[in-house]
Amino acid sequence: MTATPVAEAKPGLRLAIDDGIGWISCHNPARLNALNAEMWRELPRVLATLEADPAIRVIVLRGSGDRAFSAGADISEFETARTGASASDYDALNHAAFAALEGANKPTIAMIHGFCLGGGLGIAACCDLRLTDDKAQFAIPAAKLGIGYNPRWVRPLLALAKPAHVKELLFTGRRFSATEALAMGLVNRVYTLSDLEHETRVLACEIVGNAPLSIAAAKAAIDELTRHPETADKGKLDALVARCFDSDDYAEGRRAFLEKRKPKFEGK
Ligand code: COA
Repeated sequence: MTATPVAEAKPGLRLAIDDGIGWISCHNPARLNALNAEMWRELPRVLATLEADPAIRVIVLRGSGDRAFSAGADISEFETARTGASASDYDALNHAAFAALEGANKPTIAMIHGFCLGGGLGIAACCDLRLTDDKAQFAIPAAKLGIGYNPRWVRPLLALAKPAHVKELLFTGRRFSATEALAMGLVNRVYTLSDLEHETRVLACEIVGNAPLSIAAAKAAIDELTRHPETADKGKLDALVARCFDSDDYAEGRRAFLEKRKPKFEGK
């Protein structure tokens, strides 16, 4: 994997690309990969770059180092960047980052190790799939800091866990184990830390090898039907399915099956 060079200690998002996978790492080593305002601002830009690159078929979000996916928003900035009038500007940055992740057309995976707290859990919840290590810890400590948790960020959590579980997260701020997170529906699968990256790559490569238009149609249908069950744009979703049946990839899928070989999909 080739990472874009960034000064080691400088916080930021690091981008690496390989095998059709775009890896975005939260990098803030001094603060357990806490996300500062610049990182929130960067996330939509980095996602847009990966979305625009036809060679990228899956996006993985991870934390750098060995202690944390992300310990949430960078509290050390709150005194200046998240009080009084600036609080709503900060919320807007958070919201734009969450919206960019939720609106991504390509499949997104959160690879979670160690601490996954506050906004860290927020961005993980906006991904399509979540894999975690068995020692990871999950919490939203907003009530321990007196932060009002924006309703827009509650919705992705509610798409994963029952309201009573989300209330437990938000009322207590308590840290939950990977096993508890799995039982709540917050994560898809739990691995040992030593297997996590390999298993994430296996999952990502499985998706990379499948037909992009089929995945895009499925993702749009699942997102639209869960977010707007009453008003889902069924015409748009039907058009995405029709696009699959008209595609070269569908012809390639049929041919490959008959020729007993692995299909080679191009996303058209
Ligand atoms: N923002 C800014 N700095 C953070 C941070 C955050 N969200 N989370 C951790 N850090 C910093 C700590 O202040 C500490 O810095 P220091 O070495 O300069 O004192 C460093 O990261 C290491 O954390 P530390 O607290 O020493 O590690 P720990 O293993 O004892 O505890 C946590 C780890 C995650 C339990 C603890 O750091 C914590 O509760 N962090 C805040 C999490 C939070 O509330 N997130 C939601 C923000 S909205």
